[in-house]
Amino acid sequence: MNQRIYVCPYPYLLGFLILAFFAVPKGYGESPAQIKSEEEIVRKQMVQWSQDLGVTCTECHNIKNFKENSFKSFKVGQDHAKMVSIMKENGFDGIKGPLANCYMCHRGTLRPPAQTPQKK
Ligand code: HEC
Ligand code: HEC
Repeated sequence: MNQRIYVCPYPYLLGFLILAFFAVPKGYGESPAQIKSEEEIVRKQMVQWSQDLGVTCTECHNIKNFKENSFKSFKVGQDHAKMVSIMKENGFDGIKGPLANCYMCHRGTLRPPAQTPQKK
């Protein structure tokens, strides 16, 4: 008997393709349209935050450099955004309870009252 063992190449090819897929760095395959839509999402969220707090962009940003993070309200905003996402994971998800957002507490003001009013 002199038969060669035939090895089907397709599983290897598939494996290679899967590896190649994960090896491509994130963001590499993003089309300009995708990047643009991500920017739009950030922009919409920023407009929403501003409305919810009754402020403009300059409360949290140096409008010459939106990446700058030295403003106090920027840092608090970042912390409160984390808090909102924790709330969303814990019942305020729009299904079990109302969907958490900045307006829920802020009601259009930058510093909402943090305490129950004292009875006189
Ligand atoms: C309450 C504070 C606050 C207000 C008001 C606000 N932002 Fe932001 N903005 C942030 C924070 C915090 C981040 C960073 C978000 C993060 O960490 O994911 C951010 C991120 C951004 C980014 C992305 C910057 C980057 O890293 O590429 C842009 C652009 C931006 N804001 C624009 C705006 C515009 C335009 C407005 C007004 C309509 C606005 N923001 C209002 C707090 C604010
Ligand atoms: C669970 C309630 C609650 C939620 C939700 C909330 N905040 Fe706040 N936030 C407060 C309270 C209360 C204050 C006032 C604290 C004080 O007076 O020191 C405040 C203060 C702030 C301030 C003012 C900081 C300063 O300069 O004194 C910023 C900016 C802010 N929040 C951003 C946000 C953003 C952005 C969101 C949504 C992503 C958000 N907050 C969601 C309760 C909340």
